[in-house]
Amino acid sequence: MKILMIGDIVGGPGRRAAVQAATRLRADGSVDFVTANAENSAAGRGVTAALAMELLDAGIDAITLGDHTWDQRDIIGLLEREPRIVRPANFAPECPGRGFTTLEGPGGHKVTIINAIGRVFMKPVEDPFRTVRRILEKEQGLGKIILVDFHGEATSEKVVFGRYFDGMVSAVVGTHTHIPTADERILPKGTAYITDLGMTGPRDSAIGRDLAAVTASMLSGMPNKFEVADKDVAMEGVIIEVDEATGRAKKIRRVRETLP
Ligand SMILES: [Fe+2]
Ligand SMILES: [Fe+2]
Repeated sequence: MKILMIGDIVGGPGRRAAVQAATRLRADGSVDFVTANAENSAAGRGVTAALAMELLDAGIDAITLGDHTWDQRDIIGLLEREPRIVRPANFAPECPGRGFTTLEGPGGHKVTIINAIGRVFMKPVEDPFRTVRRILEKEQGLGKIILVDFHGEATSEKVVFGRYFDGMVSAVVGTHTHIPTADERILPKGTAYITDLGMTGPRDSAIGRDLAAVTASMLSGMPNKFEVADKDVAMEGVIIEVDEATGRAKKIRRVRETLP
């Protein structure tokens, strides 16, 4: 199975880039399953129910989220009833929605998608290592193919997380920083890994937001309104090839598709 995993979608430009790239790569046979981190899809802040459905209807098979999960309150109902959307599994147990899901992928192969969030330079949450381990050990009916989106700030935490789950899942991909890293590889026990997928949105920006506004805020130390930028739009992510019989990854390739 060839799986496209798309980095954080930012605003309208990001949504367009994600859908166009996914459609094109699917049409030419480069991929047959698509996940996307959509935590910044609604003008940079979370994702609304309508926008999430738009992405799912346009051919994104599964959506993952992150620290911006609760920015749009109307996503909560959809998180409860839509099995194709996951939020970090290590949020507090009383939070709505699910932290992992198992979907039927191409050829009837089951694909499990797990979302987790880091604890280094981020808000306090449950232990992501133990949370994901518990899912892998205790949950019934998981797919052979297991994809983990680890949403974190610190490269060190993401590297250790990837190595910890090497051989237990098909892929661990990092999200959240909006900057792609050049360390994609197959780890020793067969897990595809990258520290960060990058961003799907306007690259002429401060990680998606209007550069002048962010610069002014950094210089003055004063808060400012950060609109989503709109130039040099691209989809960034990886294409992972997984052996359906073993769940092991065979290849991982970084991709950037620029919006014409
Ligand atoms: Fe984030
Ligand atoms: Fe993000």
